[in-house]
Amino acid sequence: MKALVCEAYGPVDNLVYREFPDPVPADNEVLVDVEAIGVNFPDGLLVEGKYQARPQCPFVPGSEFAGTVAALGSGATGFAVGDRVFGWHMGSGAYAERVAALTTELHRLPALLSVAEGAALLCATGTAHHALRQRGRLQAGETLVVLGAAGGTGIGAVQIGKAIGARVIAVCSSDEKIEFAKSQGADLGINYSREDLNQAIKAHTDGRGADVVYDAVGGDAFDACSRAMAWDGRLLIVGFASGRIPTLPVNLTLVKGYSVVGVFWGEFTRKEPEAHAANMRELLAWVEQGKVRPVIDREFRLADGIQAIKYVTGRNVRGKVVVKP
Ligand SMILES: NC(=O)c1ccc[n+]([C@@H]2O[C@H](COP(=O)([O-])OP(=O)(O)OC[C@H]3O[C@@H](n4cnc5c(N)ncnc54)[C@H](OP(=O)(O)O)[C@@H]3O)[C@@H](O)[C@H]2O)c1
Repeated sequence: MKALVCEAYGPVDNLVYREFPDPVPADNEVLVDVEAIGVNFPDGLLVEGKYQARPQCPFVPGSEFAGTVAALGSGATGFAVGDRVFGWHMGSGAYAERVAALTTELHRLPALLSVAEGAALLCATGTAHHALRQRGRLQAGETLVVLGAAGGTGIGAVQIGKAIGARVIAVCSSDEKIEFAKSQGADLGINYSREDLNQAIKAHTDGRGADVVYDAVGGDAFDACSRAMAWDGRLLIVGFASGRIPTLPVNLTLVKGYSVVGVFWGEFTRKEPEAHAANMRELLAWVEQGKVRPVIDREFRLADGIQAIKYVTGRNVRGKVVVKP
């Protein structure tokens, strides 16, 4: 099969589009003919060797895909050859024409989603869902501030924040990105390339601060939010797209009485499979109700996968990018 291969850790430009051995489904695994691959910011970090996981080279990066079941490994139940599925395979293997994934990593593709939308749903939206439900305990009527709100997981947080009934403030680096976030349900926008983020959050909350902040950006934006939290607020640590992992003077949490809460969706799916399954039922119900739906910004060919990853890590994306073999 054709695949995008990481021969050695280094720049995304070093990835090679070439023949790679077909995966063989192990016990409880299913072989999927991949029709679409969701691009995620960590894909770039993985091949640069800057991610938590470090697969042995050569390997195929990418974790999110949708397609058709081609074969079943021994003991694999719940799926049949020909089923339309989407899935998330921990860490690697997706930028290819075929992927082998555990049945527990697969879901049936809802009829109303395209294969591209299926490939774009799980990681970004699943992370936002887990963050806001389990980690953030977001309640209807609370104020949710979403950093990087036009990005993949940010737009998921906007949609899910509205599905839960929160007031959502989208924080973006351009007016055009704010308009995009508003088109997906955000009530208000803050352009943090020209507004003081701390002051703007306070101004939009009558001085109270944010109940929940969804931070996939880190750096200066985190610093500003750490001073704009409401009493009993929850500051969710999702990622560091800005490139700087911030440090926190913990006296701020004491004085303002808020919590800083880490979010790691991949570990959550493994450590809490029942809670993850319940989340998936709720997420797919929101999809059926039209409350949550991935927005596809662009599609690339698998042969152009390098450009697809760089488009995402280069701060361009509105919603999600998908790659097709
Ligand atoms: N914890 C988890 O389980 C989990 C799961 C998925 C993703 N993540 C992390 O979440 C972060 C966002 O992922 P994503 O897939 O949503 O990425 P994305 O679609 O590229 O969005 C990231 C957003 O961050 C903002 N940003 C600020 N400074 C940036 C910079 N220097 N370069 C690029 N973007 C910058 C951009 O918004 P503005 O231009 O508006 O600032 C951009 O829209 C990543 O760090 C990723 O590793 C974590």
